Parts: sequence; structure tokens; C-alpha cells
Amino acid sequence: MKFFIDTANLDEIREAHDLGVLDGVTTNPSLMAKEGITGEANIKAHYKAICKIVNDKVSAEVIATDYEGMVREGKELAKLDDKIVVKIPMIRDGVKAIRYFHSEGIRTNCTLIFSSGQALLAAKAGASYVSPFIGRLDDIAFDGLDLIAQIVHIYQNFGYETEVLAASVRHTMHLIKCAELGADVVTCPLKVITGLLKHPLTDSGLAQFLADHAKAASK
Ligand code: G3P
Repeated sequence: MKFFIDTANLDEIREAHDLGVLDGVTTNPSLMAKEGITGEANIKAHYKAICKIVNDKVSAEVIATDYEGMVREGKELAKLDDKIVVKIPMIRDGVKAIRYFHSEGIRTNCTLIFSSGQALLAAKAGASYVSPFIGRLDDIAFDGLDLIAQIVHIYQNFGYETEVLAASVRHTMHLIKCAELGADVVTCPLKVITGLLKHPLTDSGLAQFLADHAKAASK
């Protein structure tokens, strides 16, 4: 399973990359705004900076919601770097834009997926990734992980190449369950990845090893 980090913060991206387990990055307009990145030139420069840090894909989202606008913006984003994946919302014109980009060999990530029907439509259109938002479903008392299971099952039934990119992943159990269910990618905040490190028996076991070593060495 690939690990993507869901942020536009360069320090966090560097930290995750330095850990040696990061595959890619996802961003969205809210995450870019959080970093104070505004204006077309700044936004493009920021995507380029992200691409320089990571080895694999970087999702960059269009702002337009009409077909022509999404195609125009998406083409410009794709030109920035080979690692760019054009992120397109699951709306009617978005489906058409995904089909267009597929025919042009430009990778897409269909975002704001909240049902297996939407995921099926995105795969039919030729999306490279679909992003089901599991945390936001949990927030309204629908089981986000059930959606991951449904999409993985449907894609396996028909051999769709679209990768399931679990998004809105809020904690380590989300990540682990996504791995069990066969999601191809998870995207999450850095703390979810570093949360995997933690186990009290690892800490106490290491303390014991070091104490025993020190005791033996002092004899
Ligand atoms: O990748 C989508 C993600 O940024 C949404 O996460 O926690 O705002 O639901 P969240």
C-alpha cells in the first residue's frame, strides 16, 4: 500500500519524506489556503516545490467546476511536473473532464467520493485514482470503511485499474483497516503515519535491553 501525505505544508512533507516511507502527496484548496498560498503564480510555484521533495504522485486540484475550465486548469497543472495528478471533483462536468484527461494520457484523482456508485462512475470515466472520504462519512454516522470495502470489491469484480485512494483518514486504525481492506493508497496527516510507530511494549522492551546492556558493561 502506498502512503501519501495529505497536506500542502512543505516542512511536514519533508519530514514524512525523510522518514523514508512517503510515496506521494495530496492537496486540496482548503489545505493550500491553510498554508496561505494564493494567486495562480504562487500556487503553481508551490506545487513545483512539493514535486521536488517527493518521489511519486502529487495531486493538485482544479478550482473550476465547468468542463472547459477544468480542462484548461488541469492541462496547466499537468504541465508543471510529471508527478502531477489532476484532482477533479465528482460532479457531472468532472466526469466528462476525467474522460478527456484519460484520452490525453493525463492522470486524474476523482475527489469527494461518498458512494460506491460515484466510484464506479469515476472508474468508468478512466480516473487513475478515486478518493473516498472516510472520516467525513464517519462524522455523519455512515461507516467510511464500509465504503472502502465496497469500492475495492467492485473494482476487483471488473478489474478496473483505478486505484482506491482512501482520504479523510483521521487516525491510525483508519489506516490499518484500509490496508486490511486492500485500499491501494491512503492519504493522511503526518501524525497518522508516525502514530504507527507507537507501542508501549516496544518502549519498555527497548528500555530493558539498554538497561541490561549497561548493567553487563559495568561489570
Ligand atoms: O484528502 C481529503 C482530506 O483533506 C479531507 O480530510 O479530515 O478534512 O475530512 P478531512
